[in-house]
Amino acid sequence: MEGLFGKYRVILAPMAGVSDIAFRTVCREMGADLTFTEMVSAKGLSYANEKTRHLLDLAEGEERVGVQLFGHEPDTMASQASWVQEMLGNSLAYLDINMGCPARKIVSKGDGSALMKDPELAARIVAKVKEASTCRVTAKFRRGWALGDETCVEFAKRIEQAGADAVCVHGRFAEQLYRGNAEWESIARVKSAISIPVVGNGDIIDGASARAMAEQTGCDAIMIARGAEGNPWIFAQAKAALSGIDEPPAPDASDRIGMARRHARLLNEREGRNIVRMRKHACWYVAGLPGASKARALFNACSSLEEFETVFDQLESHCL
Ligand SMILES: Cc1cc2nc3c(=O)[nH]c(=O)nc-3n(C[C@H](O)[C@H](O)[C@H](O)COP(=O)(O)O)c2cc1C
Repeated sequence: MEGLFGKYRVILAPMAGVSDIAFRTVCREMGADLTFTEMVSAKGLSYANEKTRHLLDLAEGEERVGVQLFGHEPDTMASQASWVQEMLGNSLAYLDINMGCPARKIVSKGDGSALMKDPELAARIVAKVKEASTCRVTAKFRRGWALGDETCVEFAKRIEQAGADAVCVHGRFAEQLYRGNAEWESIARVKSAISIPVVGNGDIIDGASARAMAEQTGCDAIMIARGAEGNPWIFAQAKAALSGIDEPPAPDASDRIGMARRHARLLNEREGRNIVRMRKHACWYVAGLPGASKARALFNACSSLEEFETVFDQLESHCL
């Protein structure tokens, strides 16, 4: 696998509420070739909304980041794409357009996967964003909108014609949300139908599934979302598996608690009172360890770094 644009083989997916600076940092350190911001509202940017702009803050030393915009108005998407490019300069690896989010509050406004129901509008957005920017532009979408109605191949062709530089396909229908399995054959069908690179996404949970995704779809890169939650080691595992070399050993309890501590400290440095975001990450890191269920309840009551550190200490004395 050559990698998307010759560079990125294993990518951390955009994840609203998850792929913030701290999580991107640990994923990059553990081997992700590229990490994505959470999805960013083009409309919010156009109103100079501070909270929305904050999503584009970079970590120290974060030299490359993928940015994902969502929205459905071609002109707003284009003007904000151009603004993002100006803001981030060389740090912007490429811009992705969200055409896959199935959340009700997103699709009810015509954003995210609702664009799969209107391929002409989706294509106009891609064309306008391309026109307004000089960076590479991609679109991330699903197998289709309605359960059982696979439209991704035709959709991908339309997006390619509109000038996209690559696409990312998540092999589930929007109506499926996250239920059932991702159908990788649909990604293979998109790959055979278009000439621009294809990123495969959906249900990569370890090195073996990373390799299977590459082999079964012929994709140019893989993108990992939930498989990285509490598990940034997956990037090194996936890269080793893709290269056909031995995977690094799985993390033990000490590695897991140590990484959770580092993550919490990073989050605290950047987000301060937003440290409550660490609750879900902490639960993910320790899942399956002895004492994890008790720790989970304690994490969910933590609101400061010190409180998290106390639970990490207790867990360490319990399982190390
Ligand atoms: C908590 C969460 C937040 C997500 N946020 C986004 C998002 O902002 N933009 C996007 O395109 N997809 C988003 N997704 C979808 C993922 O990027 C990915 O397509 C999906 O989870 C399938 O990949 P996986 O099986 O590796 O999790 C999100 C998924 C999760 C679980």
